[in-house]
This record gives sequence, structure tokens and C-alpha cells, in this order.
Amino acid sequence: MTPWYRTAVFYEVPVRSFSDGNGDGRGDFIGLISKLDYLQWLGVDCLWLLPFFPSPLRDGGYDISDYRGVLPEFGTLEDVRRLVEEVHRRGMRVIGDLVVNHTSSDHPWFQEARHPGSPKRDWYVWSETDQRFADARIIFIDTESSNWSWDEEAGAYYWHRFYSHQPDLNFDNPEVRAEVLDIVRFWLGLGFDGLRLDAIPYLIEREGTNCENLPETHDMIKEIRAVVDAEFPDAVLLAEANQPPKDVVAYFGEGDECHMCYHFPVMPRLFMSLRRQDVDKLTAILASTPPIPDGGQWAIFLRNHDELTLEMVTEEERQYMWDEYAPDRRMRLNFGIRRRLAPLLGGHRPAIELLHGLLLSLPGSPILYYGDEIGMGDNYLLPDRDGVRTPMQWDDSPTAGFSAADPADLFLPLVSTDGYRPAEVNVATQQGDEGSLLNWIRDLLAVRSHHPVFGIGDFEVVPVDDPAIFAFLRADSNEKVLVLANVSKDGRACPLDMEAAQALDVRSGERVDLSGLFLDGHEFRWLSID
Ligand code: BGC
Repeated sequence: MTPWYRTAVFYEVPVRSFSDGNGDGRGDFIGLISKLDYLQWLGVDCLWLLPFFPSPLRDGGYDISDYRGVLPEFGTLEDVRRLVEEVHRRGMRVIGDLVVNHTSSDHPWFQEARHPGSPKRDWYVWSETDQRFADARIIFIDTESSNWSWDEEAGAYYWHRFYSHQPDLNFDNPEVRAEVLDIVRFWLGLGFDGLRLDAIPYLIEREGTNCENLPETHDMIKEIRAVVDAEFPDAVLLAEANQPPKDVVAYFGEGDECHMCYHFPVMPRLFMSLRRQDVDKLTAILASTPPIPDGGQWAIFLRNHDELTLEMVTEEERQYMWDEYAPDRRMRLNFGIRRRLAPLLGGHRPAIELLHGLLLSLPGSPILYYGDEIGMGDNYLLPDRDGVRTPMQWDDSPTAGFSAADPADLFLPLVSTDGYRPAEVNVATQQGDEGSLLNWIRDLLAVRSHHPVFGIGDFEVVPVDDPAIFAFLRADSNEKVLVLANVSKDGRACPLDMEAAQALDVRSGERVDLSGLFLDGHEFRWLSID
């Protein structure tokens, strides 16, 4: 039987940004529950909730101070239980975020560990000097200058791969490992259908290495997977490893680590192809992606809650992406671009559609980012990545239907750029407009749901003598679909050298003659072949 996650469409939801049920200006579980009908209507299969645990929120909740609790402004554990129930009642699923590479410095474990001689001391990574593990890169280059920070009370440096307020846990300590396994049991036991393993390459440090992807880190993931296989066999583990393909595939193990891994390198190359009107870099990265074990699945995406990361491209490509997509320096953050999908593409509807056409047909399960289905805008003047985490725009009212609070009291201001204000971009208006982006995406999801081949089929590139045309086949024992995508702005004839002469357009139901095909600028087709 095909595991559910291989044909699922995921939808990423930051609870804080989605819907405010109690009128305090911040999203919460009651609000999210009230919007589940919308998500079911849209046709997504699985929600991915960003961290919702107690946290000082200095890294959007990725700085956790209690792994078994719920941030009070979001609600209670009871609310989470209800959410899970309501999601399941609608035939959907929900996964959470397991952020255990590091805790918040506010976590009681760290506070205890700071005392020399405390039993928790060894739960973190301490050093007398800041010179150990010197080969490990710094990830948040815009804010951090070292992976070590001095703690006065501890009288030692502590290790952190991200913000200095996020000390890394010490995975060489068996107590830490046991605790993490218990956290996994806690949330899967509560009914979650899986967990995203945040920042998973960095669990273990070793001198003389870059402290990423170490064998000992893989051993820990195998321990997590063993618990899942034994106790929650239907649950999925999704690896967040922003690494080149050859290193990412290691996170599938031999089918004994994660069920899914993000394919980070594909994402920027989708954007590059569009601007360069040439698919060479995209086809090259797919060609260099090793096969994955049976039952494994890629997770692919266009945008998410972080900056559009440019870590997995060359320096020259990064500069190209910055020049093209982030001409204003304030749009840049670390090695990336803090903008949303629609503004990145200048609001150009055919380009937005084309990228969705690829997202939903390339190998992998697609993950949509909340708000991108209506073409929401961003605000890159806000600090850090807040500009892509603004309140969801439900309608054209003063709080965009996000909250009953005063607009001035929202946790972040609504998007106010021309063309993207809630009055111009919102769910209610688009639901009532047959030609809206929202209805277009909903229709595309519906079509995809009838063609599991997009989730499970083999992938084969079809050579075409035009660098702007990307042609590939997805095939399983039931069906063969030819995907054609024109990344050029201009219309192109599409000369195909295929055995089949005729195909059926699975979106329009029209018969298509494959010999005389023409694609408009940014057009894509999904063609079923006998
Ligand atoms: C998350 C980020 C977060 C970082 C540190 C990531 O990979 O996606 O939002 O800042 O982990 O926890």
C-alpha cells in the first residue's frame, strides 16, 4: 500500500499568523480550528504546524522553553487535542515540528545547566575556549559572529548553531537522547501524524569536521525512526536538511531514517529557470539527485516561513538571484531573500501558475505556504523573517478578518503595499471569483488528487531541443503523464519526438495532437498518454 505522505499535499501554517479566535491580535488554536473547513475546501491533505510550544519567541517559536506545553497565547493542550481531532474528522492529517538541535536559553534545562556541577550541566555543549569545532560554518551570518557564546554564570562558552539564545543540546548524552525519544512519543501519542525534524544535520559535533551530517547524527535519527516504526507505524518523519542532494539522501538512510526529506536545492533553481528562461540548472540538479529508498518521498516547496535560502547555489548563482529577485538590499537576509512568492514574481499570474504546475508535478510531495494560494504579499521592512509571516488575509475588513482586535493591536501589521493590501488580496473575494488564483490552485489540487502518479510515479526527462522547455514523464503502472513547461515569457513551438501521437489534457479534458504543440509564455500542460 502506498504510504499516505507520498500522495499528500502539505500546507504550512504558523498558528500565530493564521487566525485569531480570542481577539487578542495573535493567531491561536481556536482560530485555526475555525479555518479547517477552508483548508478542507482548498484540498490540502496534511497541515504542518510551526512550533507552538512555550517560547520567548525570539526565533518565531524555534526557541522552545518547554517541549510538552503550548504557548499560552495559542491556547492549551486541550485545544491542540481538539485540533488534531477536528483535522482527522475532516480526513486530513497534521504534523508538528520537532526542534531538538537546540532549546531556548530560557529553557529550565539550560538555566540549570549554567550552574557548574548541576546534573543538567552535560545536557549542553560547553567549552573553556571558543576555538573548538572551528570548521563549523556560521548559519545566521547577519547576526552571529561565532558558534560559541560566553556565559558568565557558567564560567564557560556554550555551543549554538543558530542564535546565541539557542544553545545546542548535547546529543552525546544518553539522557538527552532518551528525553528526545520521549518527546517524540508525547506528540505522536497525542495524535500527530508525523514530525518535521528541524535543523537535523547539526545534532553532533566532532573536532576536525564541519559538524554536519556526521555518522553519529544519523545514528540518533535511526533511534527516532525505530521508535516510530515500533510505536507509530503510520507516522512520517520529515528531515529538514539544507544540504546538497548527495548528503540529503543520507537522511533517508536505508529506509531506516526519515520517510521524507526536503529537496532544498530544487527550489532556487525553479526561480532561476524562470528568470534565465532556461531549465538547464533545474534538470542538472534533478539528474544529480540519487535514487531514494522504497517508501521514501521528497518534500518540495516554493516558499516557506524562512528566507528563500540561497545556501545550495554557487556564489555566482546567489548573486544572480539577489540581483534579479532582491534588488533592494533590505530584501536580503543571511544567504537568502525574505520575500513571498507573489511579489518575487512581480504578481505575474502566468509565472505563479507555472511554478505551481511544476511544484505539483515534479517528484515529491508539495508543501504550500499559507497565503501563497491567494498571492499574499510581504513586508521586508519588518525585522528578521517577520515580513513573510504577517496575518493571513481572510477578507477586506480593517483586520483582514484575521482578528476582532483593533488593527493597531495585531502581532504584526497587515501587508500595506500597493496591489497586496487585504482589500486587494483576500480569501473571501477570491472564493467568490471563479477566475481567481485561489480557485485556480484549488482546481489544480483537485486534478492532482486524481493522479497519484504525481506522487509515486517514476520521473524521466524528455529531451527537447529548446532550453526554455522542460518536458518530463511521470509514470506508474496505471498511468503516464507528460508534463510540459515553458519557462520563457514568449510562446514556443514544442517539437516532441515521442512514440505517442495523441494525449489527453488532464486539466481540460481535451484531446491534444502531440505533433503540433505550441505553449504560450509561461504555459504548462499535464498530458496523459496511453
Ligand atoms: C527553521 C528556522 C529557524 C532555525 C533555527 C530552521 O531551520 O526553519 O525558522 O530559525 O531552524 O531553529
